[in-house]
Amino acid sequence: MTYLVTDNCIKCKNMDCVEVCPVDCFYEGENFLVINPDECIDCGVCEPECGPGAILADSALGAEAEKWHNINMKYSLIWPVITEKGEAPADADEWDGVPNKYDSGLMSELPGKGT
Ligand code: SF4
Ligand code: F3S
Repeated sequence: MTYLVTDNCIKCKNMDCVEVCPVDCFYEGENFLVINPDECIDCGVCEPECGPGAILADSALGAEAEKWHNINMKYSLIWPVITEKGEAPADADEWDGVPNKYDSGLMSELPGKGT
């Protein structure tokens, strides 16, 4: 089991999750974060930190689990680690709850700055 970052983080990215992770397994893209599934120790402390509710256990994702596992794994291997909260996007609240952001092509593949 692992926790995964899912669709509602895209363009919301408030980064309240990163500072609580005991193993520093969050990785930063330009407008999205991912968890490295092999590094996550399933402690669950990040899940309630995410106001948009984007962090879920893979076991709670049903048919979507494989998709989000693959996305988290792929980008955690190419984006920089992030351990310190940065500034959330100014329009984050406007994107909270917008459905299907990944499938609409709204996730940037560019890396973030990392910390
Ligand atoms: Fe880090 Fe724990 Fe969240 Fe996994 S569940 S990403 S180890 S805080
Ligand atoms: Fe994204 Fe939630 Fe973290 S919006 S950056 S997973 S706190």
